[in-house]
Amino acid sequence: MTSCRRILAALALAALALPAQSAGRDVSPLEAIGWKLFFDPLLSKPRNTSCASCHIPENGFESGVALGEGAYGDTLPRNAPTVVNLADAEFFFWDGRAGSLEEQARGPIENPIEMDLALDEAARRVRDEAAYATAFGRAGINDITIDAIAQAIAAFERGLATGPALFDKWLAGDRSVFNEAQERGRMIFFTRGQCATCHFGPNFTDGAFHNIGTGTADDPGRSKISEDDYDIGAFKTPALRNWKGREPFMHDGRFETLDDVLAFYNEPKTDALGQTELDPLDLSEQDHSDIKAFFETLNGPWPDLAPYEAAWQALQ
Ligand code: HEC
Ligand code: HEC
Repeated sequence: MTSCRRILAALALAALALPAQSAGRDVSPLEAIGWKLFFDPLLSKPRNTSCASCHIPENGFESGVALGEGAYGDTLPRNAPTVVNLADAEFFFWDGRAGSLEEQARGPIENPIEMDLALDEAARRVRDEAAYATAFGRAGINDITIDAIAQAIAAFERGLATGPALFDKWLAGDRSVFNEAQERGRMIFFTRGQCATCHFGPNFTDGAFHNIGTGTADDPGRSKISEDDYDIGAFKTPALRNWKGREPFMHDGRFETLDDVLAFYNEPKTDALGQTELDPLDLSEQDHSDIKAFFETLNGPWPDLAPYEAAWQALQ
């Protein structure tokens, strides 16, 4: 695509962005069970690792390190992405190998270097806990299978949305909320910075796969799943809403800060694996700090987990 067409497409799609859902709604019984399971190390063979061990709420539901460790201390091959704002996502994992949150949840439980628990054993362990049996029963599920467990975890994750950010006020029509730097940064993001070619919509992701020059021979990304050479070096575009606290960035956590990311986009790698989609940007220092100012407007409140605890107690 030419830059001009890209920009027009980005502007049109940016206009479709809707504010994130705010918190404060009721927690369903299934979501409450999912919350309990998400924090329960019972789902790992040595009973020492829960989903929340790597998706830590205080770190934006990420691990806070480039490559985390599994139940036995093995280093993981990729950075843990967040689990918030995924309700509308179509693909999961950096290479999109899962097509739903239900399918995704099975992955880490049985992955030998993550939680290493056979799925039938996971179901048996949950079934044997009286508190889960009672809670699932109250949710109308009497047969606790791995499907039921995945369904509950997925329901919990689907409800995790961040609250409105300053950008949402701007989007709702109050243009006075941005200072000059934020407004300049917004323009760069949507026009000559070309960021919105891939980062657009409510969460600033197109949910698709792109080669931005971060692939390696060890990890070529999407092409291993799609078996399409076009996808060599492509990874899922991460959401930029509520980026703060989710450092380090990229599928391998190679960048510690937003400054590092912006420096990378300014001068894309020329020796990338496959064909990079990025053009050099020639951003000035002023542009760089303006984009950062705009990025500050994308952070809203993280989901409040207190209602889940209360909803779980109510099921007992
Ligand atoms: C040992 C660390 C670890 C544990 C435990 C873990 N995860 Fe993850 N999670 C990761 C990593 C690393 C990835 C990215 C892997 C990849 O892309 O290949 C990931 C990816 C995900 C994604 C995909 C997000 C996206 O945007 O595509 C979801 C959802 C998720 N995990 C939920 C869970 C749930 C639910 C559990 C518990 C059943 C769990 N994780 C347990 C490390 C972990
Ligand atoms: C051609 C599509 C494309 C364009 C254009 C693009 N990005 Fe990205 N962005 C991606 C992909 C794909 C990744 C993930 C790559 C990886 O993990 O190796 C990413 C990752 C990021 C991350 C890390 C987020 C995280 O959670 O790890 C940030 C921040 C980011 N981009 C900001 C920007 C900015 C700012 C611009 C404009 C200067 C931009 N992007 C332009 C596709 C794009």
